[in-house]
Amino acid sequence: MGRTKTGPTYGARVGAVSFAFASCQNYTHGHYTALGHLADDDVDVAFHLGDYIYESGATGGIGRAHHPAKEIVSLADYRVRYGQYKSDPHLQAAHASVAWVVVPDDHEVDNNWADEIPEESSITQGDAFLARRAAALQAYYENLPLRASAMPDGLDMQLYRRLSYGNLIDFNMLDTRQYRDDQAAGDGWATAYPDAAVDPSRTMMGWEQERWLLDGFARSRARWQVLGNQASMAETDKVPRPAKEVHMDPWDGYIANRNRILQGARDRNVDNLVVITGDRHKNCASDLLLDYDDPDSAVVGSEFVGTSASSLGDGGDMHGGRDNPLDDGEVILAANPHMKFFNAQRGYVRCHVTPSEWRTDFRVLPYVTKPGAPISTRATYVVENGVPGVQRDR
Ligand SMILES: [Fe+2]
Repeated sequence: MGRTKTGPTYGARVGAVSFAFASCQNYTHGHYTALGHLADDDVDVAFHLGDYIYESGATGGIGRAHHPAKEIVSLADYRVRYGQYKSDPHLQAAHASVAWVVVPDDHEVDNNWADEIPEESSITQGDAFLARRAAALQAYYENLPLRASAMPDGLDMQLYRRLSYGNLIDFNMLDTRQYRDDQAAGDGWATAYPDAAVDPSRTMMGWEQERWLLDGFARSRARWQVLGNQASMAETDKVPRPAKEVHMDPWDGYIANRNRILQGARDRNVDNLVVITGDRHKNCASDLLLDYDDPDSAVVGSEFVGTSASSLGDGGDMHGGRDNPLDDGEVILAANPHMKFFNAQRGYVRCHVTPSEWRTDFRVLPYVTKPGAPISTRATYVVENGVPGVQRDR
């Protein structure tokens, strides 16, 4: 038994929409308290932005060991893993409470995969990885609410899609894994942008999806253009200025593609571009700039990165409490002046959008390694209609 809400007809006049988004729910790292609270919230629709399962066999040591107890590779393995994750009552409640719009990131298949190329250290290489990708996407399709248009065809699955919420919002759900070029510089941290990261011939979205997105920008009359996106779009430098150290898996490894989207939105008069993102296991609110080396660069959009539901365990406000490269909030905020908010607790994100204003509530938990944590709103950020960039609510 579940509840859903019928969306407005195409182009209908819509005065408000409320939605939630979540990501990164490693079953072994924490309880799904956040998803239980999300189920109690009153939203019209919810989004899952990736890492719905983790492929690893490792366990987080809180009595929620992974099944099967190994890294998953076969279709049977992936099915068992989904079965385990979906046995969680909070996750079940979240699905029963509202319709979900889902897109996978990397861990639904294999860490940091890129099209037909697995991570360098992956236990599956070559044809074995291709078979694994097909199995993983098949299990994703079987277990998540997707339309028949997403039914896998061998290695491929049609996941990028657009959901219009009347004349208020177009949700452009992106797929940044199936079509991307391999990560630059060995898929790690780079102390300066390698040539490949700025090479205009490289892509994170694939050329067809990029054209689809930009065409949608040109045609749409919706007030807000949203990208439902996997990995951070705003530059994320992890060391104090003036040095720079950026990761090659998110959009920082595909700057030319990022700029084609941001400049492309601008050229098509999109003045309310908002990107919602998972992956990072942190809450962040950032301005999207055309040139992160130029402090006077135009702000062309806003990004809200939502923290993990459970991945990395309890976390903390400015320090996640685990050995994680982005764990020091003071350093990250100082190194990235376009980033206005940082938080490393677990939770989910709630948004309320009207024609005049976008509001984002970062909903956080004091702990997830034990059940029963209360939820609260750590901060609210707004975007005003026609004014790109995030502002603290006062
Ligand atoms: Fe994750």
